[in-house]
Amino acid sequence: MTPRVAGPRVDGWDKVTGAARYAADHSFDGPVHCWPVSSTIAKGRVVSIDTSAALAVPGVVAVLWHANAPRLHTPTADPMSAVLVKPAELAVLQSDGVAYHGQLVAAVLADSLEAARHAAGLLVVEYEQLPHDAELRPGARLRVAPPSPGLDPPEQTIGNPAAALAGAEVTIDARYTTPAEHHNPIEPHATVAAWQDGGVVLYDANQGAHLIQGVIAGMFDLPRDRVRVVSAHVGGGFGAKGPQAVAVLAVMATRMLGRPVKVTLSRQQMFALVGYRSPTVQRVRLGADRAGRLAAVIHEVVAQTSAIHDFCEPAAVLTRTMYAAPHRHTTHRLARLDVPTPFMLRAPGAAPGMFALESAVDELAVVCGLDPVELRIRNEPAADPDTGLPYSSRNLVRCLREGARAFGWRPPPRRDGHRLVGSGVAASAHPSHTFPSTAQLRLHPDGRCTVALGATDIGNGARTVLTAITAEAMAMPPERIDVLIGDSSLPLAAPAGASAGTASWGSAIVDAARRLRAQLTELGDRPLPPDGLTALGQTLGDLAGTPTGAQTAKYAFGAQFAEVCVDIDSGEVRVTRLLGVFAAGKILSPHTARSQLLGGMTMGLSMALHEESVLDSRFGDFVNGDLAGYHIATCADVPDIEVGWIDETDDQVNALGAKGIGELGIVGTAAAIANAVHHATGIRVRDLPIHPHRILEGRP
Ligand code: MOS
Repeated sequence: MTPRVAGPRVDGWDKVTGAARYAADHSFDGPVHCWPVSSTIAKGRVVSIDTSAALAVPGVVAVLWHANAPRLHTPTADPMSAVLVKPAELAVLQSDGVAYHGQLVAAVLADSLEAARHAAGLLVVEYEQLPHDAELRPGARLRVAPPSPGLDPPEQTIGNPAAALAGAEVTIDARYTTPAEHHNPIEPHATVAAWQDGGVVLYDANQGAHLIQGVIAGMFDLPRDRVRVVSAHVGGGFGAKGPQAVAVLAVMATRMLGRPVKVTLSRQQMFALVGYRSPTVQRVRLGADRAGRLAAVIHEVVAQTSAIHDFCEPAAVLTRTMYAAPHRHTTHRLARLDVPTPFMLRAPGAAPGMFALESAVDELAVVCGLDPVELRIRNEPAADPDTGLPYSSRNLVRCLREGARAFGWRPPPRRDGHRLVGSGVAASAHPSHTFPSTAQLRLHPDGRCTVALGATDIGNGARTVLTAITAEAMAMPPERIDVLIGDSSLPLAAPAGASAGTASWGSAIVDAARRLRAQLTELGDRPLPPDGLTALGQTLGDLAGTPTGAQTAKYAFGAQFAEVCVDIDSGEVRVTRLLGVFAAGKILSPHTARSQLLGGMTMGLSMALHEESVLDSRFGDFVNGDLAGYHIATCADVPDIEVGWIDETDDQVNALGAKGIGELGIVGTAAAIANAVHHATGIRVRDLPIHPHRILEGRP
């Protein structure tokens, strides 16, 4: 295990001194402030809006609603980003329809934020309300989810799982549920837009400047180069900062008014408008022999989506690759409800899905009387059970063994006064993607090197890791590297998502460095030209840059170990130790890697014990929609988390040999904690979060 590391964060100084500017920190002269207005019904239509009182407020410039909003084109997206674009969500104020509580129905524009907000409260919205259904009930109105890039096929059967289950010596059949969860990045969604010279400039909080540029260009019928999106610093995304209505609204308003427009969502508005993790109901059935060897794995997922966009939480997808069961069945069924549109949230599918699978595997270990580490090792596949392909590398077993050793696996459960102490384990995994990107390197005569590309730092340290990659690729000290990112005027790059940013951008940088070094060789002893040397590099995606170009299954793995302390009188669960050991190829920047994994595990702990968005189905509204009601783990909830990794050499995964780690850390944490709760108390909690009442209800 690699020891703890500390090191420089290249933008650390800017962040702690406030020099780093986020979207809403930007201003143009004479901006108009926009206050979005949300629907108060879950289904129906807006019949009319009486704007007279609002327009009479001093400073109010306009009220936009479907009757007077300019018409927009349908957003276009290239195949790679199509999965991130929600056309009906982006069609702001384009129709009278209301599909969920909290949907945008109007926007007030005023010289001050205060005037806009005050006037918004004076709008009289007349609705025609229709009966709605906002309750996720297994069995009701379910249909098979449509295929999407992360969910293709939605249903899969390999072998004969039913027969294998019927013939198994040991079976598990359990139902797990996970609640809706919200991203809650610290920085709310914000756009500052200015229409100028027949185009538009946006300072926008997003996960990919080029992604937003393409959507805005398409919807406003502009050439791409008339849209400039700047997102130099972004305060967290977790999947919520793809193309969003707030950016469209800002551009619509600035074009109409001819003045710069600033829109910031309130925390409360974010609970309806920018996505959330769908609640899931999952049934997992396992069939094994008495030695714990799996014959059948059946994982059936029910999730919800809104009436205007199909998004299915792909919770059974990782189950297809985890263990060597010859007979497998996975399904995803979707309830289309009158609720806000759910979307990807850090490790979509994997995080809730692995809570269910890794809890069920623990239940199997208990029934078989086997150590859960040993049971997992017994089910290690030689090749990817999903595709039959060899893995580019797979070191789950090493992570389990190394983690068990470092954790001191496993002390027997013990009692400490009225507290019960126990420990649990679960596996982590995440696919390792590389998406098409380009990057430009420029070597200056003064010996500095600039790397420029449309990458985004959503807070995870992209600048730092790109500095490290460039320094290594150019064999230069990191102090001489300057990173330019967060601007659509830079070379086209993939968004920060799917844990693929570093691999995609880094692969393009490595390619650019190879070309630049070739130019240097050609230059020989001659001095650099006055404007330096430049090279453009690219990666084409998943197969690019690997020495053989061979098809392999590409995943990062890990093992997480948790110790919990359960107060048997109050039902309170505290995590007292958390250790994760990961195998993610080459670790490019130990400093940011540790921070990413630590952050993922913290979010996993928060998912296990705290996070839950409660939707009141009578209104179709999240009732705890702010940070007072939605509890996220704070420092006092989080123990001293240990993060480690094993040395993994993988020359097949991409040109860098590195696997994404942005999401890996959240996968498996909740199961490790729930399994530890069972070890401590004998109470199996199958519904997240593990609130005290669930412990108390489970007591004998
Ligand atoms: Mo993510 S959920 O790939 O930002």
